Amino acid sequence: MTHQTIIVLDFGSQFTQLIARRLRELSIYCEILPFDAPLAEIARREPAGIILSGGPRSVSDAGAPRCDTGVYGLSVPVLGICYGMQLMTAALGGEVAPAPHREYGLATIEIQPGAPLFTSIPGHLRVWASHGDLVKAPPPGFAVTATSANAPVAAMASETRRLYALLFHPEVAHTDHGTEILRNFVYGVCGCRGDWTMSSFVEEATARIREQVGQGRVVCGLSGGVDSTVAAVLIHRAIGDRLTCIFVDNGVLRQDEAQQINKRFERLSLPLVFVDASALFLERLAGVTDPETKRKAIGATFIDVFEREAKALGAFDFLAQGTLYPDVIESVSVVGPSHVIKSHHNVGGLPDRMRFRLVEPLRQLFKDEVRLVGKELGLDDEFVWRQPFPGPGLAVRILGEVTATRLALVRHADHIVAEEVKRAGWYRRLWQSFAVLLPIQSVGVMGDARTYEHTIAIRAVESRDGMTADWARLPHELLTAISSRIVNEVKGINRVVFDISSKPPSTIEWE
Ligand code: XMP
Repeated sequence: MTHQTIIVLDFGSQFTQLIARRLRELSIYCEILPFDAPLAEIARREPAGIILSGGPRSVSDAGAPRCDTGVYGLSVPVLGICYGMQLMTAALGGEVAPAPHREYGLATIEIQPGAPLFTSIPGHLRVWASHGDLVKAPPPGFAVTATSANAPVAAMASETRRLYALLFHPEVAHTDHGTEILRNFVYGVCGCRGDWTMSSFVEEATARIREQVGQGRVVCGLSGGVDSTVAAVLIHRAIGDRLTCIFVDNGVLRQDEAQQINKRFERLSLPLVFVDASALFLERLAGVTDPETKRKAIGATFIDVFEREAKALGAFDFLAQGTLYPDVIESVSVVGPSHVIKSHHNVGGLPDRMRFRLVEPLRQLFKDEVRLVGKELGLDDEFVWRQPFPGPGLAVRILGEVTATRLALVRHADHIVAEEVKRAGWYRRLWQSFAVLLPIQSVGVMGDARTYEHTIAIRAVESRDGMTADWARLPHELLTAISSRIVNEVKGINRVVFDISSKPPSTIEWE
């Protein structure tokens, strides 16, 4: 089945994915394409509407990204947001000029009555804006539909051509009624029906997997996280026991994690091959202190174990992966290529010699949607809403060498952090919260005795996608509970510190 589709053309805004996520929340299927996608490729998808994203450049720059101007003539509604608005203005004969004051943050706009994009929305709105240019004069045939103190044209529209534009960002949470504005565009203007739901996704994905795999056998490397588990459950729904899941216990998991995975798979009647390779991983990690070397050692050991196990299980035709939509989107580099800060060794990185065809049932989904699909498939709430956990596990949360003793310290402390954060009702609000074992010892006093023991750092961050993050302002009572429990219950720790750095310039993990 094909869904009514909105195409989002990406001009490099940090909010492009957010636009798509908002549309998906409105039950609208959408795809992000690079700004220079050929017109034929856009038209082939028969979009119900097109959104031009924001972007960091000025339309007056020589090398500014531009889309094919044919998008305005496809007879489908187009909505330009911020840079997208300026581009539309410049392309259709209006005037764009540098703003006297660069607008960044909240602004108030006044809405003209009767504009379809603002149906059922109050006449004054607080909106979130971020732009250096503004529209001085709209193109011929356009009406001004909103104004602000600093921008004579905060929104404009040509009803006859079904072209719309906003100088502000409806997709960010700080814009009042932003979601309603997007809803008015897709439902009111584009005539979408909202045919993208997670239950329809489950049905369609199941049928697609059956068709792709035929009578073949599929092997799935489980990481224990939400993505690979949901992928496995979906594939099992489609092909039953022609799916085999392999879970490798790498010895750097959280407390009770391996047993929980076993139990979950038992409850779901999913075939699981459980391999306890923790001793081998610890052996390969012995003496390793450099973070990247740790990651590489864990990645390489995983491949060795997985390959050996898969071979022992006979011939497989397909490898299942929990690839998500953000991994698939062709990223636009209008501000220069991004650098690899840390190499991420996940199940995905199998070498060429293990030639499998791939089954990637979650390729269309954002993380929030994977969680909804997980719920739909009967996975428990607590699991589905788990905070992300890195593939190299606790190894990158032990600064210095990974040993069984040091693992036990960080694992116990991490468990206490999770328990207390959940008890305080903060777990879902945080992107991640965890303990890090520092490579230092310090002096303390316990009873009458002097101690010289290890230090745990608490890391708790709020983030939208892990790319940037801010340290969480945890209540002092919560910090007190975490600290006193760790010092009292974890033998070998006599000091707890709280990490108050944001990303950038720090990273979320300490290694
Ligand atoms: P950083 O530390 O780079 O982390 O700010 C950003 C997000 O990525 C996770 N992370 C990893 N995930 N393998 C993974 O699967 C890795 O090697 C890895 N390193 C960091 C981290 O937990 C955070 O959510």
